[in-house]
Amino acid sequence: MDFKVQIADILYKQFNDLSREEIISMIEIPPSPDMGDYAFPCFRLAKLLRKAPPKIAEEAVAVIERPDFLKEIKSVSGYINFYIDKTKFASSIISNVLKSKEKYGTSNEGEGKNIVIDYSAPNIAKPFHVGHLRSTVIGGSIYRIYKHLGYNCIGVNHLGDWGTQFGKLIVAYKKWGSKEAVEQGGIKELMRIYVLFHEEAEKDPSLEDEARSWFTKMERGDEEALALWNWFKDISLEEFKKVYKLLGVEFDSYAGESFYNDKMDAIIEELDSKGLLKESDGAKIVDLEDVNMPPCLITKRDGSTLYATRDITAAIYRKNTYDFEKCIYVTALAQNLHFAQWFEVIKKMGYDWHDKLVHVPFGLVSMETGKLSTRKGNVVLLEELLKEAIDKTNQIINEKNPDLEDKETVAEQVGIGAVVFNDLSNNRIKDVVFSWDKVLNFDGETGPYVQYTHARACSVLRKANVDIEENIDYNVLTDPSSIEVIRLIGQFPERIKEAAEKLEPSFIARYIVDLAQAFNKFYHDNPILVEDEAVKKARLSLVYSVKTVLSSGLYLLGIKSPEKM
Ligand code: ARG
Repeated sequence: MDFKVQIADILYKQFNDLSREEIISMIEIPPSPDMGDYAFPCFRLAKLLRKAPPKIAEEAVAVIERPDFLKEIKSVSGYINFYIDKTKFASSIISNVLKSKEKYGTSNEGEGKNIVIDYSAPNIAKPFHVGHLRSTVIGGSIYRIYKHLGYNCIGVNHLGDWGTQFGKLIVAYKKWGSKEAVEQGGIKELMRIYVLFHEEAEKDPSLEDEARSWFTKMERGDEEALALWNWFKDISLEEFKKVYKLLGVEFDSYAGESFYNDKMDAIIEELDSKGLLKESDGAKIVDLEDVNMPPCLITKRDGSTLYATRDITAAIYRKNTYDFEKCIYVTALAQNLHFAQWFEVIKKMGYDWHDKLVHVPFGLVSMETGKLSTRKGNVVLLEELLKEAIDKTNQIINEKNPDLEDKETVAEQVGIGAVVFNDLSNNRIKDVVFSWDKVLNFDGETGPYVQYTHARACSVLRKANVDIEENIDYNVLTDPSSIEVIRLIGQFPERIKEAAEKLEPSFIARYIVDLAQAFNKFYHDNPILVEDEAVKKARLSLVYSVKTVLSSGLYLLGIKSPEKM
């Protein structure tokens, strides 16, 4: 609950000529408390309602709704002043958290609705690098956020397990690889020969033709080609799953691109029968000139299909299988055109659900050394990055708290949490520059800072060891720093909804930083474990609420909340 928003809602019922947003932006915080906690100036309404501002304010005060949390509403020279009953306010929010516990912030608005979330989707035989981390953690968080709101979520890992890159890999394997080397080196060896292919192909372009013909063999069901492909796929998946385990991410389906191999013909026929296919230089395309986009390529001259062909087929398959309310695609910004094009093809096919397809783009991740690319081999493997995060965290813990129990687990939870939080803390469209000093700073606006604050709250509750579930004197919680914490706690359910609506986990990340900061101020201002039982219990109820919300917020981002650190 946010006072301002609540008050705006009351005013909106009275002044519906203004939008809710306009009303929110007009509400002021008066310079002194005797003029109320919030004030609404009626001057801008004078023209609209053809009445003097004091009259507008007076009339409104006589009729508007008075919820419990408002002690008084007064009209004073053209302003409507609102006085908050802080005790009631504290009571309504904290008692709600005490009652709902971990469920605080959940809702059932999504009951009976399916949301498909297509995320992570790394490319087989290429390594999982920090660029893929973003899709994985953003998608993973969107999954948890929607689930919290009662939706039935289906997480799909649309693996890049089909396409000409496998032709390249087969050529590279046959020329420069060996069974032993791949078995030993795993994905790193696959990456080495893949990079080598690109270097060699620059000198000898005929390698590209060779690669294409191996891919065509795959598409025609050639046994040798498919056996190699399957093997590369198994090796890659094994590696990916290690990373998912570290990140605590799971998928409901691993139907990747190859899953649609036997389903594309029917879709190509459908496109044809709907009169959408055009020949162009032997290729088949859907013309998108009318919407100012380059054509969407459906089959190449040699008859092979493309990324878009598989996405169109997959969308129709998913609609039939899951009857989704929304199908969300989390990929880098660079794929904007791809999604815009094939969404348009779905629309042209006459599917009215085209507007349920949502592309969720995100910015680039770079290390301080520069952009990442698989082809050039200038990549940081995600597993190595995560392991490094854990090692570095271990060192920090050894300095700060060498006697901590179960250090290994905590280092893993904090190290990985730090990397994940760093990726989610800014609007997703922004580029991220990865810097260890920033990511692991326990005092900055970071994952470890929030986790540390959570652990601090847990420690207070442990030391107090008091049952705080009933008879709380909420008068104790009306000082400014307590009220600020309570105000934020009250906003949590709303923030989750906003994050879902805008598909922005960063809203949650920023929110828990704000809450952690407000709590640390409260903690500094108010001694908790005091003699006076009533004061102690009331403050502990606030500590408990903070702990619960921080832990839920971290959970929604895919981050663990250790109780000690
Ligand atoms: N494999 C693709 C990549 O790494 C991402 C796939 C995203 N999902 C999709 N349905 N196109 O770029």
